[in-house]
Amino acid sequence: MNKRFVTFLPAGIKVEVESGTDLLTAASKANIELKAPCGGDGTCGKCAVQIKNGRVKARRDSHLATRMAEKGLNLACQTLVQDEDLVVEIPKTSALSKHQVLVDRNPAGEGISEALSNYLLHVWQLKELLLEKQESPLNGYSLNPLCRRIRLTLPVANLQDNRDDLNRLTMALKKETKCTDIHVPLPIIRNLGEILRAEHFKVTVLLSEVGGKAEVISVEPGHGHQPLYGIAVDIGTTTVVAYLLDLEKGRVVETAGTHNRQARFGDDVISRIVYAVDEPDGLKTVHQSIIDTINTLIIDLLVKQRHIKETDIRVMMTAGNTTMAHLFLGINPKYIRLEPYIPTTNFFPVVKAQELGLRINDDALVFSYPSVASYVGGDIVSGALFTKMGDAEAPISLLIDIGTNGEMVLGAGDWLVTCSCSAGPAFEGSGITFGMRAMHGAIERMEVDPQTYEVSYTTVNNGKPVGICGSGLIDCLAKLRRTGIIDRAGKFQTSLPTERMRFGEAGPEFVLVWREDTDLDRDIIISEADVKNLLRAKGAVFAGIRTLLNVVGFDLESIEHIYVAGGFGNYLNIPDAIAIGLLPDLPIEKYKYVGNTSAKGACMALLSQEAWAEANNLAGKMTYIELSVGNLFMDEFVSSLFIPHTDLTLFPNVS
Ligand code: FES
Repeated sequence: MNKRFVTFLPAGIKVEVESGTDLLTAASKANIELKAPCGGDGTCGKCAVQIKNGRVKARRDSHLATRMAEKGLNLACQTLVQDEDLVVEIPKTSALSKHQVLVDRNPAGEGISEALSNYLLHVWQLKELLLEKQESPLNGYSLNPLCRRIRLTLPVANLQDNRDDLNRLTMALKKETKCTDIHVPLPIIRNLGEILRAEHFKVTVLLSEVGGKAEVISVEPGHGHQPLYGIAVDIGTTTVVAYLLDLEKGRVVETAGTHNRQARFGDDVISRIVYAVDEPDGLKTVHQSIIDTINTLIIDLLVKQRHIKETDIRVMMTAGNTTMAHLFLGINPKYIRLEPYIPTTNFFPVVKAQELGLRINDDALVFSYPSVASYVGGDIVSGALFTKMGDAEAPISLLIDIGTNGEMVLGAGDWLVTCSCSAGPAFEGSGITFGMRAMHGAIERMEVDPQTYEVSYTTVNNGKPVGICGSGLIDCLAKLRRTGIIDRAGKFQTSLPTERMRFGEAGPEFVLVWREDTDLDRDIIISEADVKNLLRAKGAVFAGIRTLLNVVGFDLESIEHIYVAGGFGNYLNIPDAIAIGLLPDLPIEKYKYVGNTSAKGACMALLSQEAWAEANNLAGKMTYIELSVGNLFMDEFVSSLFIPHTDLTLFPNVS
């Protein structure tokens, strides 16, 4: 097949692809991620691009493609490279993130390509997901990492002490570690005799200890001081963040974040599973995509910390939802989405980095957080560990993670119940006309004047507005309702005396920002369809909370602490979240925003054997409630589709 060049503007990144490749795939190959919520089905219209030069072919005709063509745009996923080189412009509204070259970090341009630089995000774009370096990642646990170095001086072999070398080593390790089961792999045994004698029976052993068992990772002659680092990775469906940790000092050395490259296979886990299962080589492709994402982050971390080498990283801990964990390890996720929704496994094996192609030490051990069920994964277990809801003295607490799905855990000490409520990723911006994550230019706070209907707002990083993120959407919904722009069912009052209220392509809409004040070529609006999507998302979360309470026979007032996790940044407006009926009407002091607990729990488990043991204990003791069984959830959901709720007695403080 012929190969052709495609140049993507404005970044000017050129990539060579086979004729017949679609432009969504070509962009991904160039490390440019386009929005693709439908996973390339040609149904969402988010991947629009403009062909500046060259001939292309449509994969198939569709009403949406025709509408795009009228605006001079093509759907990247439906547009195929032909027998000419192409120049393709990516509008700001189609790019998954603002591309930014990291010249200030890497002036010499060594070790990181321009395309890769363009792909990486600046830390501020993901600051709400990143753990501050100054925070102690141990969160009360003592430093006792999953991987550590032990310096040994072994008894010298002689005619009186004629034990074999392996026995000599394992006996000393048993004494030092209290582990009864010590495994030394054959490749290490092969050369053990030489290693022990090189420095007169002084050796440094790198060891991984879990639950009384130890695995020897390496044995080196002498008592040198080699650096020892680990990486904790939060594998989110949308975003992946990584923390480089000094295992001996127990602190975060560096952080990095980027979009999950799997986004081009769809926004949600179902689209990713469908791609993995239905496409030829689908599982391999989706698996490789997350490995590439993590490798990109590793390179970013090491570019920022040049004195640390790939080989110094000896252990990795990952936390993610059940589908992400399956795809990371290349496990077929097919039955996660088919009734009765059974994952292949909830507890994942420890593997070596080289088996996955990760760019750390080949022999580094890679741990994955355990899941509870198909739709409650290691990210939630990690959150439960961080919030200590499983501790013996813990009062009744609720952890809610509002991310791509709405997962929650309710419980106290001995008992924990959990569910996932298919809220959809509306609060991450998906399915909302101008929805986006909390990145540069995202509207995060909003006010609407009740007399004039004028809108004031603040944006992330004070950038010119380009969209609206989760906290902005909650604010927006609350303010639209408070000013009477929408009624309790989310219907627009179209007769209001303001030009901001109008009819658009999808029906009634309200202009939030006029075009001249944006960094786009059009007005930023919220439509009635967007509001309905948000009501479904918030309704599902609240219905999930009520269902869990019903199952265990408690009422809302019994909850002592509510931990809210997710990518809202520091600006989640709890009163507004209560006003729209997303969160229960409980005293504000009971609420705590806990940020990215998936990542925080991953760091804890990497640095503390006790924390890792507790994570496994928590996964085993959580009871999963399947919401599709019975009518309880559906009845609650229907009642929750109003602002704040059909039953106003549940929201006595919301006027
Ligand atoms: Fe192209 Fe959805 S229309 S990814």
